[in-house]
Amino acid sequence: MNTVGFIFDLDGVIVDTAKYHYLAWKKLAIELDFQFTKEHNELFKGVSRKRCLEILLDLANVETTDEQFDRWMVEKNIDYLAYIEKMDKSEILPDVPEVLEFLKQKNIPIALGSASKNARAILEKVDLIHYFNTIVDGTNVTKAKPDPEVFLIAAKQLGVLPNKCIVFEDAVAGIQAANAGEMISIGIGDATILSEANYNFKDFTEMDKNFLEKLIG
Ligand code: BG6
Ligand code: MG
Repeated sequence: MNTVGFIFDLDGVIVDTAKYHYLAWKKLAIELDFQFTKEHNELFKGVSRKRCLEILLDLANVETTDEQFDRWMVEKNIDYLAYIEKMDKSEILPDVPEVLEFLKQKNIPIALGSASKNARAILEKVDLIHYFNTIVDGTNVTKAKPDPEVFLIAAKQLGVLPNKCIVFEDAVAGIQAANAGEMISIGIGDATILSEANYNFKDFTEMDKNFLEKLIG
């Protein structure tokens, strides 16, 4: 058993892909004649693609068939992937590579714990995939955040007890998932939104190495 392990969410923690999810959902919302705002997009953070579409259809008051639902899921992802295709290292959020490198140098196991089914493609695109000992994503889970499943699988694969795992998250559902798994939750983003986290930072530039050393123990 390793002593501690670090689990990173992807969207909003490693890369700022929330803006691309937003643009792709907005395009679909226009087809549905619904005004989709950035506030609506907050509800979609950390939430599976299927659940996002269910929420959008609820908001837009649209009822549909299973076939049309599936077509919209595909359409949204095609639009999203067109943005991802153009991504490069410049879209990595500040100080993320430094933190990953710091942990790697100390031989601390690192996992990805994401709801996205596009996680591997994005990590490859921004050239960070080699830092991760394991990747648990939307293709590996049956229960979405705030269920802790994604993080519990990651802990198991790292060989670390859940209560020795540290989770970085930008979504309320993700913080709740980490807490439900009895892990140490660190909110990245707005501390008022992520008030359930054990610790809060605006971004990784605010987190000094002493704090990481303390977590490692
Ligand atoms: C999460 C995002 O990481 O992944 C959500 O925060 C998104 O907004 C979810 O809906 C699923 O992503 P994808 O790439 O499988 O559509
Ligand atoms: Mg996220």
